[in-house]
Amino acid sequence: MDKLLLIDDEADMQYSFRRIFDSPDIQLTTASSGEEGLRLLPKLKPDLVIMDIRMGEMSGLETLRRIRQADAKLPVIMMTAYGTTQTAIEAMKLGAYDYLLKPFEVPKLKEVIFSALKAARDMRRVVSYEPLLESEDYELGIVGRSEPMQSVFKLIGQLAASDATALITGESGTGKELVARAIYHHSRRSRQPFLAINCAAIPEQLLESELFGHEKGAFTGATAQRIGKFEQCQGGTIFLDEIGDMSPPTQTKILRVLQAGTFERVGGNETVKVDVRIVAATNQPLEEAVSQRRFREDLFYRLNVVRLHLPALRERREDIRLLVNYFLKKIAQTQQQPRPKSISAEALAALEAHPWPGNVRELENVIHRATVMAKGDAVLLSDLPVQIGRAPEPARPRPPEPTGAAPATDTGGAALAASPVPVTTPERGDDAELAGLAERLFHWARCDRQRKIIPAVERILVIHALRETRGNQVQAAKLLGITRATLRKRIEKFRIRADLNIQ
Ligand SMILES: Nc1ncnc2c1ncn2[C@@H]1O[C@H](COP(=O)(O)OP(=O)(O)OP(=O)(O)O)[C@@H](O)[C@H]1O
Ligand SMILES: [Mg+2]
Repeated sequence: MDKLLLIDDEADMQYSFRRIFDSPDIQLTTASSGEEGLRLLPKLKPDLVIMDIRMGEMSGLETLRRIRQADAKLPVIMMTAYGTTQTAIEAMKLGAYDYLLKPFEVPKLKEVIFSALKAARDMRRVVSYEPLLESEDYELGIVGRSEPMQSVFKLIGQLAASDATALITGESGTGKELVARAIYHHSRRSRQPFLAINCAAIPEQLLESELFGHEKGAFTGATAQRIGKFEQCQGGTIFLDEIGDMSPPTQTKILRVLQAGTFERVGGNETVKVDVRIVAATNQPLEEAVSQRRFREDLFYRLNVVRLHLPALRERREDIRLLVNYFLKKIAQTQQQPRPKSISAEALAALEAHPWPGNVRELENVIHRATVMAKGDAVLLSDLPVQIGRAPEPARPRPPEPTGAAPATDTGGAALAASPVPVTTPERGDDAELAGLAERLFHWARCDRQRKIIPAVERILVIHALRETRGNQVQAAKLLGITRATLRKRIEKFRIRADLNIQ
């Protein structure tokens, strides 16, 4: 549950908030003055403060200053009426998280509040990176015992102890953001804010203003001055995610911040001085971007001083088992299950053999889904997506792809062959089990639009039936619940027999 503290002397506003946030996920406390709000802080320990700028004795700005002294990581959202926006800008310079112009719409209010709560959570939930002990809280940790991960941990420790700029590289889903947060949490700046900006998610023209702010009239639509993330994050750490997507003018400004700690807001002359640590990440090879002149070489060298590379999951398969157990425990904890589900040896072996193009994120999603699919206390092979199956049987030559029919890919065919679900005809079959199988097949087909379920299934079933019966077509047809004539047609259609090598 998130704790929200509203500081506003207007009873109407307090009443509206109580109605808007009447939810079991939010605990709302109200205070009618800055003094009262400050008094409540130590005991209440709110996750977020939302406060009116103009109040009785102690102004919103003064209250904000004191809140920041007490806890620089507590996000504060200011509310302001038209005509007092200059004060709102002052508030942003003091480190307010955001401000809202009154009257505001409820969806906008909720959006700002939820984004601030997420930022607060990221700042507070410490990411541990030592090899986790069994008894430890499973909420957030970087899991891994493989050699490459041991080196990563060592480097995190060194980076946390210094104030150096860091560049984190690695494929998507390898844990770059998690590592950035671990560096922050263990650094001397851990009591100051941490702001994450995804450079790829913000349109190019807006990113510069988002980071550095702008002056009124700097461009069409810039109706008021705006304070950027760097100014807001004084003393703290900024995480520039997907830095490879940054435009050249913004790159130039970042370089200057790194070299001189200064910048100008977009459209402004005033030089602003900042003390912010930069941690950057990218999943594209920046060297390539440099050679194609999309990324400044000098900035690259500046960022690359300390480089932390996260290995792909397939390069450290010995960590898969640990990660699976970690996620099973984490899921049990968040879903308040009495005990985590276990995993069958067969399912674990399949997970350890998978290439994991989506890395740890993909593994986490697969485990999440498997715990939903699992009916009992253990995750079985049949609870995993169909493409995570056993490796193809090496001894038997594979038949060629049928012409005219949709291709059944290697993994698809192998995974289907490995399916532990007994094959029965739909008329006689166990509906629930077949529904589960259908669900897995749809998932398999969705992963690659080239795949066509019916021909792929037909083909693999015919091959399987023939193998089971050592090529006896009468028995195979019976097993499949089709006539021998139909079986022959399928064999022809998929050109199976000649290549199957059945004695
Ligand atoms: N070593 C790890 N131990 C535990 N959880 C991990 C580990 N690595 C990644 N995760 C989890 O996997 C998910 C993806 O991690 P993260 O967002 O840090 O990846 P990323 O490298 O930033 O990916 P992208 O390039 O797609 O942004 C997160 O839920 C994270 O908690
Ligand atoms: Mg990321």
